[in-house]
Amino acid sequence: MTDPQNTPSIPYDRVRAVQWENSRLVLIDQRRLPSHNEQIVIEHLPECIDAIRSMVVRGAPAIGITAAYAVVLAARDRYLADPRSWRDALRPDLERLCAARPTAVNLRWAVERMRRAADAAAGADPVAPLLEEARRIHAEDIAANHRMGFLGAQLIEQGSGVLTHCNTGALATGGYGTALGVVRAGVADGRIAQVFADETRPWLQGSRLTAWELVEERIPVTVIAEGAAAHLMREGRVRWVIVGADRIAANGDTANKIGTYGLAVIARHHGVRFMVVAPTSTIDMTVAEGGGIPIEMRDPLEVLGCGGTRIAPEGAQAWNPAFDVTPAELIDAIVTERGVIETPTAAKMRSLAASLPA
Ligand code: MRU
Repeated sequence: MTDPQNTPSIPYDRVRAVQWENSRLVLIDQRRLPSHNEQIVIEHLPECIDAIRSMVVRGAPAIGITAAYAVVLAARDRYLADPRSWRDALRPDLERLCAARPTAVNLRWAVERMRRAADAAAGADPVAPLLEEARRIHAEDIAANHRMGFLGAQLIEQGSGVLTHCNTGALATGGYGTALGVVRAGVADGRIAQVFADETRPWLQGSRLTAWELVEERIPVTVIAEGAAAHLMREGRVRWVIVGADRIAANGDTANKIGTYGLAVIARHHGVRFMVVAPTSTIDMTVAEGGGIPIEMRDPLEVLGCGGTRIAPEGAQAWNPAFDVTPAELIDAIVTERGVIETPTAAKMRSLAASLPA
Protein backbone atom coordinates (compact mmCIF):
# COMPACT_ATOMS: atom_id res chain seq x y z
CA MET A 1 0.00 0.00 0.00
CA THR A 2 1.31 3.49 -0.89
CA ASP A 3 1.75 5.71 2.17
CA PRO A 4 -0.75 8.60 1.68
CA GLN A 5 1.71 11.10 3.13
CA ASN A 6 4.60 9.92 0.91
CA THR A 7 3.79 9.34 -2.74
CA PRO A 8 6.24 8.42 -5.48
CA SER A 9 8.04 11.32 -7.10
CA ILE A 10 5.46 12.45 -9.64
CA PRO A 11 5.84 16.04 -10.91
CA TYR A 12 3.57 18.69 -9.40
CA ASP A 13 2.38 16.56 -6.45
CA ARG A 14 3.27 18.52 -3.33
CA VAL A 15 -0.04 19.58 -1.76
CA ARG A 16 -1.95 17.49 0.84
CA ALA A 17 -5.20 18.78 2.40
CA VAL A 18 -6.10 15.79 4.62
CA GLN A 19 -3.53 14.13 6.86
CA TRP A 20 -3.47 11.75 9.82
CA GLU A 21 -0.79 12.86 12.29
CA ASN A 22 -0.16 11.81 15.88
CA SER A 23 -3.51 9.99 16.11
CA ARG A 24 -5.41 13.10 14.97
CA LEU A 25 -6.95 14.34 11.75
CA VAL A 26 -5.31 17.46 10.34
CA LEU A 27 -7.10 19.48 7.65
CA ILE A 28 -6.07 22.59 5.74
CA ASP A 29 -8.80 25.16 6.41
CA GLN A 30 -9.88 25.78 2.80
CA ARG A 31 -12.17 28.65 3.78
CA ARG A 32 -9.08 30.73 4.58
CA LEU A 33 -6.98 30.03 1.48
CA PRO A 34 -5.17 31.65 -0.22
CA SER A 35 -4.59 34.50 2.22
CA HIS A 36 -4.04 32.16 5.22
CA ASN A 37 -2.61 28.64 5.03
CA GLU A 38 -3.80 27.23 8.36
CA GLN A 39 -4.52 23.75 9.64
CA ILE A 40 -7.34 22.56 11.86
CA VAL A 41 -6.73 19.60 14.17
CA ILE A 42 -9.70 17.31 14.75
CA GLU A 43 -10.04 14.66 17.44
CA HIS A 44 -13.78 13.92 17.59
CA LEU A 45 -16.62 13.17 15.17
CA PRO A 46 -18.83 16.28 15.74
CA GLU A 47 -15.98 18.63 14.77
CA CYS A 48 -15.42 16.53 11.69
CA ILE A 49 -19.07 16.74 10.60
CA ASP A 50 -18.90 20.48 11.16
CA ALA A 51 -15.70 20.75 9.07
CA ILE A 52 -17.39 18.97 6.15
CA ARG A 53 -20.58 21.07 6.37
CA SER A 54 -18.78 24.37 6.73
CA MET A 55 -16.36 23.73 3.81
CA VAL A 56 -13.13 23.51 5.85
CA VAL A 57 -12.71 20.42 3.67
CA ARG A 58 -14.61 20.04 0.40
CA GLY A 59 -14.43 18.19 -2.91
CA ALA A 60 -16.07 14.78 -3.22
CA PRO A 61 -13.04 12.47 -2.71
CA ALA A 62 -11.57 14.64 0.08
CA ILE A 63 -14.91 14.54 1.89
CA GLY A 64 -14.93 10.73 1.60
CA ILE A 65 -11.37 10.39 2.94
CA THR A 66 -12.09 12.80 5.79
CA ALA A 67 -15.17 10.74 6.65
CA ALA A 68 -13.09 7.56 6.71
CA TYR A 69 -10.72 9.08 9.29
CA ALA A 70 -13.76 10.48 11.15
CA VAL A 71 -15.02 6.92 11.62
CA VAL A 72 -11.69 6.05 13.28
CA LEU A 73 -12.15 8.98 15.69
CA ALA A 74 -15.77 8.06 16.40
CA ALA A 75 -14.93 4.38 17.01
CA ARG A 76 -12.08 5.36 19.34
CA ASP A 77 -14.43 7.50 21.46
CA ARG A 78 -17.19 4.86 21.45
CA TYR A 79 -14.73 2.12 22.42
CA LEU A 80 -13.28 4.19 25.25
CA ALA A 81 -16.79 4.90 26.54
CA ASP A 82 -17.85 1.25 26.48
CA PRO A 83 -15.70 -1.52 24.95
CA ARG A 84 -18.68 -3.89 24.80
CA SER A 85 -21.21 -1.78 22.91
CA TRP A 86 -19.02 0.41 20.68
CA ARG A 87 -20.40 -1.07 17.42
CA ASP A 88 -24.04 -0.30 18.30
CA ALA A 89 -23.12 3.20 19.48
CA LEU A 90 -21.21 3.82 16.24
CA ARG A 91 -24.22 3.19 13.96
CA PRO A 92 -26.01 6.54 14.45
CA ASP A 93 -22.63 8.30 14.20
CA LEU A 94 -22.21 6.90 10.70
CA GLU A 95 -25.68 8.10 9.66
CA ARG A 96 -24.96 11.61 10.97
CA LEU A 97 -21.69 11.64 9.06
CA CYS A 98 -23.39 10.56 5.81
CA ALA A 99 -25.88 13.42 6.13
CA ALA A 100 -23.18 16.12 6.35
CA ARG A 101 -23.32 16.87 2.59
CA PRO A 102 -25.83 15.14 0.31
CA THR A 103 -24.52 15.28 -3.27
CA ALA A 104 -20.99 13.81 -3.13
CA VAL A 105 -21.55 10.05 -3.12
CA ASN A 106 -17.93 9.42 -2.09
CA LEU A 107 -19.00 10.29 1.45
CA ARG A 108 -21.47 7.41 1.73
CA TRP A 109 -19.15 5.13 -0.25
CA ALA A 110 -16.29 5.68 2.23
CA VAL A 111 -18.56 5.36 5.27
CA GLU A 112 -19.91 2.05 3.92
CA ARG A 113 -16.37 0.72 3.52
CA MET A 114 -15.57 1.78 7.08
CA ARG A 115 -18.80 0.19 8.32
CA ARG A 116 -17.74 -3.12 6.76
CA ALA A 117 -14.29 -2.77 8.36
CA ALA A 118 -15.94 -2.11 11.73
CA ASP A 119 -18.16 -5.17 11.35
CA ALA A 120 -15.11 -7.29 10.50
CA ALA A 121 -12.92 -5.87 13.30
CA ALA A 122 -11.97 -8.86 15.38
CA GLY A 123 -10.38 -8.64 18.80
CA ALA A 124 -10.69 -5.90 21.31
CA ASP A 125 -9.64 -2.46 20.07
CA PRO A 126 -11.10 -1.45 16.66
CA VAL A 127 -8.83 1.56 16.12
CA ALA A 128 -5.91 -0.19 14.41
CA PRO A 129 -7.96 -2.07 11.74
CA LEU A 130 -10.15 0.99 11.08
CA LEU A 131 -7.15 3.25 10.70
CA GLU A 132 -5.62 0.76 8.29
CA GLU A 133 -8.78 0.85 6.15
CA ALA A 134 -8.93 4.67 6.21
CA ARG A 135 -5.30 4.88 5.14
CA ARG A 136 -6.01 2.36 2.38
CA ILE A 137 -8.95 4.48 1.10
CA HIS A 138 -6.65 7.53 1.14
CA ALA A 139 -3.79 5.79 -0.65
CA GLU A 140 -6.10 4.25 -3.26
CA ASP A 141 -7.50 7.68 -4.06
CA ILE A 142 -4.05 9.14 -4.69
CA ALA A 143 -3.11 6.17 -6.86
CA ALA A 144 -6.38 6.53 -8.81
CA ASN A 145 -5.64 10.21 -9.38
CA HIS A 146 -2.17 9.47 -10.74
CA ARG A 147 -3.66 6.91 -13.12
CA MET A 148 -6.48 9.23 -14.24
CA GLY A 149 -3.97 12.02 -14.75
CA PHE A 150 -2.05 9.83 -17.15
CA LEU A 151 -5.15 8.52 -18.97
CA GLY A 152 -6.84 11.91 -19.30
CA ALA A 153 -3.69 13.64 -20.53
CA GLN A 154 -3.42 11.12 -23.38
CA LEU A 155 -6.65 12.56 -24.85
CA ILE A 156 -5.21 16.08 -25.13
CA GLU A 157 -3.31 17.29 -28.19
CA GLN A 158 0.14 18.90 -27.62
CA GLY A 159 0.04 22.63 -26.91
CA SER A 160 -3.67 22.84 -25.98
CA GLY A 161 -5.44 25.43 -23.85
CA VAL A 162 -7.87 23.99 -21.28
CA LEU A 163 -10.54 25.40 -19.00
CA THR A 164 -11.32 23.90 -15.59
CA HIS A 165 -14.09 24.67 -13.10
CA CYS A 166 -14.24 24.69 -9.29
CA ASN A 167 -11.31 23.01 -7.52
CA THR A 168 -10.65 19.36 -8.29
CA GLY A 169 -7.04 19.25 -7.20
CA ALA A 170 -5.04 18.02 -4.23
CA LEU A 171 -7.30 20.08 -1.98
CA ALA A 172 -10.41 18.27 -3.23
CA THR A 173 -8.96 14.74 -3.05
CA GLY A 174 -6.42 12.60 -1.21
CA GLY A 175 -3.76 14.32 -3.32
CA TYR A 176 -2.92 15.32 -6.93
CA GLY A 177 -6.54 15.71 -8.02
CA THR A 178 -8.99 14.41 -10.59
CA ALA A 179 -9.51 17.02 -13.35
CA LEU A 180 -6.61 19.02 -11.93
CA GLY A 181 -4.58 15.79 -11.91
CA VAL A 182 -5.13 15.63 -15.68
CA VAL A 183 -4.04 19.28 -15.85
CA ARG A 184 -0.89 18.46 -13.81
CA ALA A 185 -0.05 15.47 -16.01
CA GLY A 186 -0.89 17.35 -19.22
CA VAL A 187 1.35 20.28 -18.26
CA ALA A 188 4.19 17.91 -17.30
CA ASP A 189 3.83 16.26 -20.71
CA GLY A 190 3.69 19.47 -22.76
CA ARG A 191 0.16 18.70 -23.91
CA ILE A 192 -1.34 21.61 -21.97
CA ALA A 193 0.14 24.99 -22.81
CA GLN A 194 -2.36 27.21 -21.00
CA VAL A 195 -4.71 26.64 -18.05
CA PHE A 196 -7.80 28.80 -17.54
CA ALA A 197 -9.62 28.53 -14.19
CA ASP A 198 -13.22 29.65 -13.77
CA GLU A 199 -13.52 31.74 -10.61
CA THR A 200 -16.54 29.58 -9.55
CA ARG A 201 -19.04 31.67 -7.64
CA PRO A 202 -20.14 31.75 -4.89
CA TRP A 203 -17.31 30.02 -2.98
CA LEU A 204 -14.62 30.98 -5.51
CA GLN A 205 -13.01 27.53 -5.45
CA GLY A 206 -11.44 28.36 -8.84
CA SER A 207 -9.87 31.73 -8.09
CA ARG A 208 -8.98 30.90 -4.48
CA LEU A 209 -8.10 27.21 -4.47
CA THR A 210 -7.28 26.07 -8.02
CA ALA A 211 -5.21 29.19 -8.63
CA TRP A 212 -3.45 28.71 -5.25
CA GLU A 213 -2.58 25.07 -6.01
CA LEU A 214 -1.26 25.89 -9.46
CA VAL A 215 0.76 28.85 -8.21
CA GLU A 216 2.21 26.59 -5.47
CA GLU A 217 3.25 24.13 -8.20
CA ARG A 218 4.55 26.96 -10.42
CA ILE A 219 2.07 26.11 -13.18
CA PRO A 220 0.90 29.31 -14.91
CA VAL A 221 -2.85 29.88 -14.48
CA THR A 222 -5.26 32.46 -15.86
CA VAL A 223 -8.43 33.08 -13.84
CA ILE A 224 -11.59 34.09 -15.72
CA ALA A 225 -15.01 35.25 -14.57
CA GLU A 226 -17.53 32.50 -15.38
CA GLY A 227 -19.29 34.84 -17.76
CA ALA A 228 -16.12 34.95 -19.88
CA ALA A 229 -16.15 31.23 -20.75
CA ALA A 230 -18.25 31.47 -23.94
CA HIS A 231 -16.11 34.31 -25.28
CA LEU A 232 -12.95 32.32 -24.43
CA MET A 233 -14.27 29.39 -26.46
CA ARG A 234 -15.38 31.56 -29.38
CA GLU A 235 -11.83 32.93 -29.52
CA GLY A 236 -10.56 29.35 -29.90
CA ARG A 237 -8.34 29.48 -26.81
CA VAL A 238 -9.38 26.13 -25.30
CA ARG A 239 -9.72 22.65 -26.79
CA TRP A 240 -10.99 20.90 -23.66
CA VAL A 241 -13.11 21.73 -20.64
CA ILE A 242 -11.92 19.40 -17.84
CA VAL A 243 -14.06 18.99 -14.71
CA GLY A 244 -14.53 16.63 -11.77
CA ALA A 245 -17.72 15.03 -10.46
CA ASP A 246 -19.63 14.67 -7.21
CA ARG A 247 -21.82 11.84 -8.44
CA ILE A 248 -22.14 10.03 -11.77
CA ALA A 249 -25.47 8.28 -12.41
CA ALA A 250 -25.85 4.88 -14.09
CA ASN A 251 -26.38 6.49 -17.51
CA GLY A 252 -23.33 8.78 -17.27
CA ASP A 253 -25.23 11.96 -16.27
CA THR A 254 -22.86 13.84 -13.96
CA ALA A 255 -23.46 16.13 -10.97
CA ASN A 256 -20.71 18.65 -10.38
CA LYS A 257 -20.22 22.21 -9.11
CA ILE A 258 -22.93 24.63 -10.19
CA GLY A 259 -22.00 26.09 -13.56
CA THR A 260 -20.62 22.84 -15.00
CA TYR A 261 -23.77 22.18 -17.04
CA GLY A 262 -23.62 25.64 -18.60
CA LEU A 263 -19.99 25.05 -19.58
CA ALA A 264 -20.93 21.75 -21.25
CA VAL A 265 -23.67 23.46 -23.28
CA ILE A 266 -21.41 26.22 -24.55
CA ALA A 267 -18.52 23.80 -25.14
CA ARG A 268 -20.71 21.71 -27.46
CA HIS A 269 -21.84 24.85 -29.30
CA HIS A 270 -18.22 25.86 -29.93
CA GLY A 271 -16.82 22.40 -30.76
CA VAL A 272 -14.78 22.31 -27.53
CA ARG A 273 -14.50 18.83 -26.01
CA PHE A 274 -15.75 18.08 -22.51
CA MET A 275 -13.97 15.69 -20.10
CA VAL A 276 -15.21 14.46 -16.69
CA VAL A 277 -12.52 12.98 -14.46
CA ALA A 278 -13.62 10.97 -11.42
CA PRO A 279 -12.64 7.81 -9.54
CA THR A 280 -15.07 4.90 -9.66
CA SER A 281 -16.00 5.74 -6.04
CA THR A 282 -17.95 8.69 -7.54
CA ILE A 283 -20.16 6.42 -9.67
CA ASP A 284 -23.58 5.63 -8.18
CA MET A 285 -25.20 2.81 -10.15
CA THR A 286 -28.25 2.93 -7.83
CA VAL A 287 -29.31 6.23 -9.42
CA ALA A 288 -30.60 5.62 -12.96
CA GLU A 289 -30.18 9.13 -14.30
CA GLY A 290 -29.16 12.62 -13.24
CA GLY A 291 -32.65 13.66 -12.12
CA GLY A 292 -32.31 11.23 -9.19
CA ILE A 293 -29.17 12.86 -7.77
CA PRO A 294 -29.88 14.97 -4.65
CA ILE A 295 -28.71 18.54 -5.18
CA GLU A 296 -27.47 20.36 -2.09
CA MET A 297 -29.12 23.75 -1.53
CA ARG A 298 -26.93 26.13 0.45
CA ASP A 299 -27.44 29.35 2.36
CA PRO A 300 -28.68 32.21 0.10
CA LEU A 301 -26.27 34.54 1.90
CA GLU A 302 -23.41 32.85 0.02
CA VAL A 303 -24.79 34.35 -3.20
CA LEU A 304 -25.89 37.68 -1.76
CA GLY A 305 -22.38 38.57 -0.64
CA CYS A 306 -18.73 37.88 -1.33
CA GLY A 307 -15.91 37.18 1.14
CA GLY A 308 -18.20 37.94 4.05
CA THR A 309 -19.30 41.34 2.65
CA ARG A 310 -22.93 41.84 1.66
CA ILE A 311 -23.16 42.89 -2.02
CA ALA A 312 -26.88 42.60 -2.92
CA PRO A 313 -29.31 45.06 -1.34
CA GLU A 314 -31.21 44.04 1.80
CA GLY A 315 -34.53 42.61 0.65
CA ALA A 316 -33.07 40.76 -2.36
CA GLN A 317 -33.42 36.96 -2.27
CA ALA A 318 -31.09 34.32 -3.69
CA TRP A 319 -31.32 30.76 -5.03
CA ASN A 320 -28.20 28.74 -4.25
CA PRO A 321 -27.99 25.18 -5.61
CA ALA A 322 -24.40 24.01 -5.04
CA PHE A 323 -24.39 21.55 -7.96
CA ASP A 324 -25.99 20.93 -11.34
CA VAL A 325 -26.28 17.91 -13.61
CA THR A 326 -24.62 17.64 -17.02
CA PRO A 327 -26.43 15.16 -19.28
CA ALA A 328 -24.26 12.31 -20.59
CA GLU A 329 -24.81 13.36 -24.20
CA LEU A 330 -22.81 16.55 -23.59
CA ILE A 331 -19.82 14.60 -22.20
CA ASP A 332 -17.10 13.43 -24.60
CA ALA A 333 -15.15 11.34 -22.10
CA ILE A 334 -15.43 10.09 -18.53
CA VAL A 335 -11.95 9.27 -17.24
CA THR A 336 -11.75 6.83 -14.31
CA GLU A 337 -8.83 4.90 -12.82
CA ARG A 338 -10.29 1.82 -14.55
CA GLY A 339 -10.21 3.35 -18.01
CA VAL A 340 -11.81 5.98 -20.24
CA ILE A 341 -15.43 5.86 -21.39
CA GLU A 342 -15.85 7.90 -24.56
CA THR A 343 -19.38 9.20 -25.33
CA PRO A 344 -20.84 7.62 -22.18
CA THR A 345 -24.03 5.54 -22.32
CA ALA A 346 -25.86 3.38 -19.78
CA ALA A 347 -24.48 0.23 -21.45
CA LYS A 348 -20.87 1.47 -21.24
CA MET A 349 -21.37 2.48 -17.60
CA ARG A 350 -22.83 -0.98 -16.82
CA SER A 351 -19.84 -2.73 -18.28
CA LEU A 352 -17.43 -0.51 -16.28
CA ALA A 353 -19.42 -1.20 -13.10
CA ALA A 354 -19.36 -4.94 -13.78
CA SER A 355 -15.54 -4.83 -13.82
CA LEU A 356 -15.36 -3.35 -10.30
CA PRO A 357 -14.61 -5.47 -7.23
CA ALA A 358 -17.76 -6.31 -5.23
O1 MRU B 1 -18.85 22.36 -3.00
P1 MRU B 1 -17.54 21.70 -3.27
O2 MRU B 1 -16.38 22.64 -3.27
O3 MRU B 1 -17.33 20.50 -2.39
O4 MRU B 1 -17.68 21.14 -4.75
C1 MRU B 1 -16.62 20.43 -5.31
C2 MRU B 1 -16.86 20.05 -6.72
O5 MRU B 1 -17.90 20.26 -7.28
C3 MRU B 1 -15.76 19.30 -7.40
O6 MRU B 1 -15.73 19.60 -8.76
C4 MRU B 1 -16.03 17.78 -7.23
O7 MRU B 1 -16.21 17.47 -5.88
C5 MRU B 1 -14.94 16.98 -7.77
S1 MRU B 1 -13.49 17.17 -6.78
C6 MRU B 1 -12.31 16.13 -7.29
